[in-house]
Amino acid sequence: MERAMISVEGLARRFGDHGQPAVFEDVWFGVEKGEFVCLIGHSGCGKTTILNVLAGLDRPSGGTVIVDNREIDGPSLDRAVIFQSHALLPWLSVLGNIAFAVSSRWPRWPRAKVREHALRFIELVGLKGAADKRPAELSGGMKQRVGIARALSIEPKMLLMDEPFSALDALTRGMLQDEVLRICAETQQTVFMITHDVDEAILLADRIVLMTNGPGACIAEFVVNTMPRAERQRNGLHRHPQYYAIRNHLVEFLVNRSRAFDREIAEHGYDSRRPRTVRPGLAAINPAAEVVPLRHAN
Ligand SMILES: Nc1ncnc2c1ncn2[C@@H]1O[C@H](COP(=O)(O)OP(=O)(O)O)[C@@H](O)[C@H]1O
Ligand SMILES: [Mg+2]
Repeated sequence: MERAMISVEGLARRFGDHGQPAVFEDVWFGVEKGEFVCLIGHSGCGKTTILNVLAGLDRPSGGTVIVDNREIDGPSLDRAVIFQSHALLPWLSVLGNIAFAVSSRWPRWPRAKVREHALRFIELVGLKGAADKRPAELSGGMKQRVGIARALSIEPKMLLMDEPFSALDALTRGMLQDEVLRICAETQQTVFMITHDVDEAILLADRIVLMTNGPGACIAEFVVNTMPRAERQRNGLHRHPQYYAIRNHLVEFLVNRSRAFDREIAEHGYDSRRPRTVRPGLAAINPAAEVVPLRHAN
């Protein structure tokens, strides 16, 4: 039985008393090693809750998450999280914040080694001159960079990001997207990222997971980014021949299909363990015949 590196299997989450509807249920998907996956869905459908479960910060009401063939049972330095807000320690400098994470990861490292390692990641995100500044002295974009450097510095097996750029102005957001794209290409990082920005997903993701509206949200389908990684650049994205096919598909889902998915289920059927995979702009694939890039345990 072969599983994806991250395998989400029948996940459900309910809050409050019995009888409350589940925020989401029977959620199945996987993320392969080295893959960049984005999750898209409307506000309130349960995206952050899923990410919190993956991070080990929340427990599901049903189902499980298997990472590297082991069921997760709490937070781990193998899974670094970049939150919507930067979540830095305000009394520590940039270097201090990152060194703190590095020495949690490698407690036996001497100080000089921790420092050198931390500085390498500060440089990677372009903050070399700001190593001694405290978070309060930094702009929003710089703080988010520190969050990215901190997450990467512990060399996690996977990176979990919850709308990491949503609080930033467009210019800064674009620069950081480029940075993340470059770093992930260099390090072959496995990434699971939540976004509500369709263009961000097209730029960054190899595969996009579409989630329906809650309550009782589910995974509607997987959208393969038919634009190869090497051809994805922020400037000129919209000139790529695949761009509008992908974009229209995602927008159509968010505007119409995400809230009327029950109708699609009634018409075409639905297998929660194997939601269909579509490749916008390329020939539609028959879900029964397709080779799904996930390997579920069924
Ligand atoms: N700790 C909690 N207690 C009760 N309800 C919660 C809690 N966390 C999230 N929810 C509810 O779960 C739903 C999904 O929330 P969330 O995962 O934050 O959605 P998203 O990130 O997709 O916007 C929302 O209706 C929210 O009110
Ligand atoms: Mg959220």
